[in-house]
Amino acid sequence: MNKFNIALDGPAGAGKSTVARLVANELGFVYIDTGAMYRAVTWKVLELGILADQTAKVIETAKAMDIVLQPGPTGQQVLVDGEDVTDRIRSAAINANVSLIAQIAEVRELLVSKQKAMAASKGVVMDGRDIGTQVLPDAEVKIFLTASARERAERRYKEMDKPAITVEQLELEIARRDKLDSEREVSPLVQAQDAVLLDSSNIPLQDVVGKVLELCRAKVTGG
Ligand code: DC
Repeated sequence: MNKFNIALDGPAGAGKSTVARLVANELGFVYIDTGAMYRAVTWKVLELGILADQTAKVIETAKAMDIVLQPGPTGQQVLVDGEDVTDRIRSAAINANVSLIAQIAEVRELLVSKQKAMAASKGVVMDGRDIGTQVLPDAEVKIFLTASARERAERRYKEMDKPAITVEQLELEIARRDKLDSEREVSPLVQAQDAVLLDSSNIPLQDVVGKVLELCRAKVTGG
């Protein structure tokens, strides 16, 4: 198959990263997790003792830092100024602060331009919130992957070691975050007009992967 770009957006917990990784493997494309870039900026900011609401300092930090995403032994590796932070960007402190950082327009501008450059030679599967709308509006294939808040809560619950929270509480938390993400002023989470909506609530992710590959084939063969 010739190279083209795939934009994969949707709320947290819908299965985007799993689907994106499998589709990329299948096509021999590069998987790019853009959420990791917002997490990397958050990591650096906290590391320097800057608070997420010190906007000017956050912007300065984001401009000065070097972020590299590269294929590693267990998936995408994230380097900040040469340091491997792949695991550290998944901590609770990052989870608690990343949405504040992702709301800063100048940080988004900077990361979006890096993301556009990464996709310039095509052959990428990019996962995020604004890929089909802002980063790659011309992507050949656009998917909006979703799942019900209940389903996403159940998936998260199963991943937890010793959950100190009920599935119902998780569901409420997810619904609240969806609302914030969809209503924020800068690049809210919205489905691109030309994106295909896939709901993974009642289908295994392997079947979602099959569906995405089918859409890719149809696109490439002009179907
Ligand atoms: O997908 P994730 O949980 O790793 O994303 C981390 C945060 O970054 C989350 O608050 C959503 C935000 N994000 C964004 O605003 N735009 C993107 N393209 C990707 C992630």
